Amino acid sequence: MISTASASQATPGTAADGIDIKCVSLTKTFRDFWMRPRVRAVEGIDLEVRRGQVYGLLGPNGSGKSTTIKMLLGLLAPTSGRIAVLGRRPRDVATKKHVGYLPEESYLYRFLSARETLDYYGRLFKIPGRMRRERIDMLLEMVGLQAVEHRPVGEFSKGMQRRVGLAQSLINDPQLLILDEPTSGMDPVGARQIKDLIADLGRRGKTVLLCTHQLSDVEDLCDRVAIMFGGKVRAEGTCDELLSQENLTNLQTDAIPEAVVEEIRGVLARHGVDHLAVERPRRRLESLFLEIVDKARSEGTDTSGARSGGHIPDFLRDVTRPDDAIARQPEPDVPAGETQPAPPKVDDGLIDSLVKR
Ligand SMILES: Nc1ncnc2c1ncn2[C@@H]1O[C@H](COP(=O)(O)OP(=O)(O)OP(=O)(O)O)[C@@H](O)[C@H]1O
Ligand SMILES: [Mg+2]
Repeated sequence: MISTASASQATPGTAADGIDIKCVSLTKTFRDFWMRPRVRAVEGIDLEVRRGQVYGLLGPNGSGKSTTIKMLLGLLAPTSGRIAVLGRRPRDVATKKHVGYLPEESYLYRFLSARETLDYYGRLFKIPGRMRRERIDMLLEMVGLQAVEHRPVGEFSKGMQRRVGLAQSLINDPQLLILDEPTSGMDPVGARQIKDLIADLGRRGKTVLLCTHQLSDVEDLCDRVAIMFGGKVRAEGTCDELLSQENLTNLQTDAIPEAVVEEIRGVLARHGVDHLAVERPRRRLESLFLEIVDKARSEGTDTSGARSGGHIPDFLRDVTRPDDAIARQPEPDVPAGETQPAPPKVDDGLIDSLVKR
């Protein structure tokens, strides 16, 4: 059961600070019609994601990633275990205000246009009219859909729908962004932009929980990763901790003739090293692809699909800069006395009381 501890019960300053997600012994068992346990989707996992971290949740199909995410969002109730998200219970409305979520399936109203879709979500967050329009302009530009903003999203390709979903997840300038396979169905240019965007959000002090099968993205982006299998976390740590091979050394040089390789082999042999692997590195397919698309774009070749985009909108606050909220004055049509909601301060004591066994 989730603890019902309230802020008043918490002892301030007793927990480690800056933890945006904490799960202890989190378990979810799906039951059948007769309430018999059918699938143990998540089994006693412990997770801790600190503020400003980009955290990768990995695992093969059916390992429990999306189920974990749905519990973090309060969409599914855990069978047992405890969760604190931004220092509160996941179902707390104050939590949801500061969380952005991109689900693994795009659930969009097919007859609304991209702009109308973002406007709809902006209204749900009660973002005032002018600020909403400005954010929508910036987000459409960021995801490269400005030119097709009035077409119904039901007509969009899978990757274009993903782009609308990503823009929607950012409309409330969330402190915590939960992305379930953000680059699935995206072309390599879009995927690269999403990676750059996630890295930028991390630099701005946002916390990102990234669930993906793109292992190279995780290596490039994530501060820490957890690898799940069969509902359990099998490994957890930084990429360096998990991936470094202490018993190998890589040397990279300009191209050298075979005779020099033999000389190096001799030097290594004198030091008792008999293993030398020599290979000519290949360029990554991603970089070739991006170069070809860039060239086509610079030649003015037309497309009815997504454009380049990629500029991170100004309204996404940089929480690492204490003066950011002061530097950007509220928009004129924000009602007097109201400013933008500040990202929630994690209540250390409350986290402690929520997760303490
Ligand atoms: N609503 C549900 N009812 C019954 N079983 C479910 C339900 N949702 C998920 N499961 C089961 O829970 C397990 C974990 O599913 P989950 O969707 O969390 O996996 P995942 O790691 O996100 O996989 P993928 O990489 O394919 O997205 C699977 O065996 C799945 O069939
Ligand atoms: Mg999933």
